[in-house]
Amino acid sequence: MQIRQPIVAVLGHVDSGKTSLLDRIRGTGVQGREAGGITQHIGASFLPSETIKETCGILYKKLEQAEHKIPGILVIDTPGHEVFTNLRSRGGSAADIAILVVDVNRGFQPQTNESLKILQSRKVPFVVALNKCDQISGWRKSETKFISQAIKEQDASIQTDLDQKIYDVVGTLSILGYQSEAFYRVKDFKSEIAIVPISARSGVGIPELLSVLVGLTQQYLQKRLNQEEKEPRGIVLEVNDEIGLGQTANIILIDGTIKKENSIVVAKRDSVIVTKPKAILLPKPLDEMRDPRDKFKPVSQVDAAAGLKIASPDLEGVLPGSTLYVATNDAEIEKFTKLIEAE
Ligand code: GTP
Ligand code: MG
Ligand code: NA
Repeated sequence: MQIRQPIVAVLGHVDSGKTSLLDRIRGTGVQGREAGGITQHIGASFLPSETIKETCGILYKKLEQAEHKIPGILVIDTPGHEVFTNLRSRGGSAADIAILVVDVNRGFQPQTNESLKILQSRKVPFVVALNKCDQISGWRKSETKFISQAIKEQDASIQTDLDQKIYDVVGTLSILGYQSEAFYRVKDFKSEIAIVPISARSGVGIPELLSVLVGLTQQYLQKRLNQEEKEPRGIVLEVNDEIGLGQTANIILIDGTIKKENSIVVAKRDSVIVTKPKAILLPKPLDEMRDPRDKFKPVSQVDAAAGLKIASPDLEGVLPGSTLYVATNDAEIEKFTKLIEAE
């Protein structure tokens, strides 16, 4: 069985620290270049296994022993601002699993609840990252990147304070129908949501957050990530006219493979288009698609899951959010056209 990389959506209220968390993992500075520090588009970036290994440190040993190891993670960054509900839904609908980011000092906020509803309606499993622990008043900075260790180094009153904040989240989630616990107290990861205190600023807790996430994925999502007999499909994020490329679409390939000689089948407002990509372009690993450090690389083939760009003059007028299929022959073109027409 061959499993693909999971698609991990990062959701939460505005300024809870979603982009900062990804910047910390990738070693990028995307958040600092956003207008007003606000995310306004869906982002995507690929975290290779080496990055996960480096981030998790000694915790990776156990993950490495799994029967089916994931070949990296495709992370989807979403905006938390209230006006971007449609983008949050789009990010949530592509997700296999999610990180719900909560500001530890603010607890659940309106778009935290909204994000949770999106995950709930699509039955997406998730982990809570309780961010900005460094901002808990009296929090002592420590050398360790492991939150379980950092907590031990805090004064007793700070430990109590953090526990209280964790129980506030447990209480809120319980009202919403979820059982949850601090990750170090979780007994059954299948029925309890794990809450991981972190700081995107200092990096503390990120090893545990990623370990819990990867562990869950490798244990419970194998079937979903198995690529046998999966229809090759993706979702269109945005369509642009780019200098030197013409019409392009940024897409997330969710399942399957896309090759230059394949046909893309996708809906326009009142028709279905079938087009062959003029070019397929792939961002470098760890580069955020909407703010890459390097140029996208032209490739002849991409396997899911991936964020990529396709260029083709026929893409003009394709609506963001549309499902896109990849066909290898006429019969498939017909099948996918009918599928789209039936939607
Ligand atoms: P939107 O995408 O606009 O919804 O925001 P976001 O959730 O991506 O949050 P963002 O990464 O933009 O961070 C918001 C602010 O919080 C920035 O000023 C960050 O520097 C700050 N911030 C994020 N994480 C932490 C943290 O762990 N500790 C502290 N002290 N500040 C943080
Ligand atoms: Mg952001
Ligand atoms: Na922000």
